Amino acid sequence: MADTLSITDNRTGKTYEIAIQDGTIRAADLRQIKVASDDFGLMSYDPAFMNTASCRSAITYLDGDAGILRYRGYPIEQLAEQSTYLEVAYLLMHGELPNTQQLGAWEHSIMTHTFVHEFLKRALEGYRYDAHPMGRLVAFLATLSTFYTDAKDVRNPEIRKQHVVRIIAKMPTIAAWAYRHSLGRPYIYPSNELSYCGNFLAMLFQIAEPKYKPHPVLERALDVLFILHADHEQNCSTSAARGVGSAESDPYVSLAAASAALYGPLHGGANEAVLRMLKKIGNVKNVPEFIASVKAGEGKLMGFGHRVYKNYDPRAKVIKKLADDVFAVTGRNPLLDIALELEKIALSDEYFIKRKLYPNVDFYSGLIYQAMGFPVEMFPVLFAIPRASGWLSQWCEMLDDNEQKISRPRQIYTGPDARDYVPMAKR
Ligand code: SDX
Repeated sequence: MADTLSITDNRTGKTYEIAIQDGTIRAADLRQIKVASDDFGLMSYDPAFMNTASCRSAITYLDGDAGILRYRGYPIEQLAEQSTYLEVAYLLMHGELPNTQQLGAWEHSIMTHTFVHEFLKRALEGYRYDAHPMGRLVAFLATLSTFYTDAKDVRNPEIRKQHVVRIIAKMPTIAAWAYRHSLGRPYIYPSNELSYCGNFLAMLFQIAEPKYKPHPVLERALDVLFILHADHEQNCSTSAARGVGSAESDPYVSLAAASAALYGPLHGGANEAVLRMLKKIGNVKNVPEFIASVKAGEGKLMGFGHRVYKNYDPRAKVIKKLADDVFAVTGRNPLLDIALELEKIALSDEYFIKRKLYPNVDFYSGLIYQAMGFPVEMFPVLFAIPRASGWLSQWCEMLDDNEQKISRPRQIYTGPDARDYVPMAKR
């Protein structure tokens, strides 16, 4: 049997052989299907890209039915257990786990680029204390683009590498300073002798102590959370990074666009929305009423459901276990009881079962972040920081893919036919 599709166009009786490759057909092969020689030919129509591959990628593999997530072939559970975020960022960028020398050099290059230009502090002062940190992150990334004008040379691998390191290194600094500004606290400069996450915690939470000592359990928990959030194939924000990057925009504005997409409550903003939902439910005894309101279409069960996972999100499983380690240090987050009751009821309720709605990465992560002392507004920022390495690896892969060019979808036009302009006097 041949790897082809035989299509008969019943409008003309003509048949066509369309090649099947990697489980797909090329949409461009449909253009030959015409009813007349001047016909544009067939297009595929796929709103929200529910069933369309936009690229070839070797970075992340998902199996939504089996609940599998692998970075460059390595199962997420093993990476969460045995790796570190910076090692995973190296893996995503380079395709292989680093040896000792490579990891040391990578960590050194990241940890010696954590400072940001002093002007950025003045840019920070321009925001109200209660400006949402995600809005500031989007702006800061675009502002960094105005500093590093050589970043526009996106076809130069050496230039690209420099800015990949800068972005991964500076995201925690930008995020921490936005948080400190919202509290009216002085900025803490990076401590390069601390780990990536230890340094982030110090820039966030150091007060008067001469040297901040991150709690090892919390430092490791944040590192695992960063591993879990690092990449997730062609999600909404990665598609934004690839789309903007396909115009040869620099990595800073490409990631500003990605951060803007991640900010949405249906995407990375869901972790913040989950906490607001749990607070609104307020008590375990209100869970049945809330579930009934969701089933009545009055709102969503935030942190549940996924475009790809039609099974338990493997990341949610790891996070749920991680919560116990964190709560042993911080004290149990009382909202956990509401979350557990929501999960218990939802997983046994036909409405959710029929729609294959399971907890996703955002359902439990916010409970940990809150227990660690983060305000809910910071939760999507805690998603964006690690996802920067995923966005950047996908952005580089797109630029190196000879099949890719500027992203420009077609449309089905539904507007009026040609008509003449009507002068005001005749309207
Ligand atoms: C992330 O893509 C990624 O990989 C994203 C991500 C990543 O790492 O990058 O995994 C991170 O964004 C996780 C998702 C976080 N978002 C939320 O938790 C928000 C709540 N979830 C939903 O909004 C929704 O599940 C989505 C957006 C995640 C997925 O939406 P889809 O695939 O477009 O599915 P849909 O909206 O068409 O829903 C199908 C049905 C609908 O019911 P019917 O119209 O068929 O009756 O399921 C219902 C939806 O109403 N549904 C929900 C629901 N999610 C879907 N009903 C109640 N609560 C929900 N959470």
